[in-house]
Amino acid sequence: PEAESGDGADASSIAELRDAAKACRRCPLWADATQTVFGEGPEDARIVFVGEQPGDQEDLAGKPFVGPAGKVFDGVLEEAGVDRSITYVTNGVKHFKFEPRGKRRIHSKPNAGEISACRWWLDHELALIKPDLAVAMGATAAQSLLGKSIAVTKMRGQVVTRDDGLRVFLTIHPSFILRIPDPSDKEAERERFVADMRAVKQLMA
Ligand code: URA
Repeated sequence: PEAESGDGADASSIAELRDAAKACRRCPLWADATQTVFGEGPEDARIVFVGEQPGDQEDLAGKPFVGPAGKVFDGVLEEAGVDRSITYVTNGVKHFKFEPRGKRRIHSKPNAGEISACRWWLDHELALIKPDLAVAMGATAAQSLLGKSIAVTKMRGQVVTRDDGLRVFLTIHPSFILRIPDPSDKEAERERFVADMRAVKQLMA
């Protein structure tokens, strides 16, 4: 469809783009979510981290990665020596998708149509920030950044260069770690995630 005014197409800053995204109707997810959860971080960031979509707490706070997955993410970044405050953190899909279950809202996976509709925003974020590296955390982020489906558990640790020259580092999503029941498996997986983040840091050195 033709670009309408207010769709962020001519935004000259992340602040303007974020503002335009508040009224996004590109897919139906806006209707049940509290608000658009846009990316956050300095506009001159050299690394952009991309997750899947906001969770329950992010939906309420209006900020990415502040809930349980965000705690894992923060801890792993700290252990790897990556300063989150100089990176830009965003999601492939910017509204929370969920199924109500009693009083709780259970995360549900965005589909290909929702991911594709929301690429509009990610593309514009990347065009303004022009990072040296994007980190795809999980399959949704990889789909969103690369436009195709990727087996991230097999491809993790690898860098794929897009046609526009942007390097995309592939890794798992932090909530993958949260879902592992066995404590020693969980710790091993967390260590692998730390190793991925050290590799990211190395790529930026
Ligand atoms: N999971 C994500 O992918 N993104 C968030 O912002 C929070 C949880």
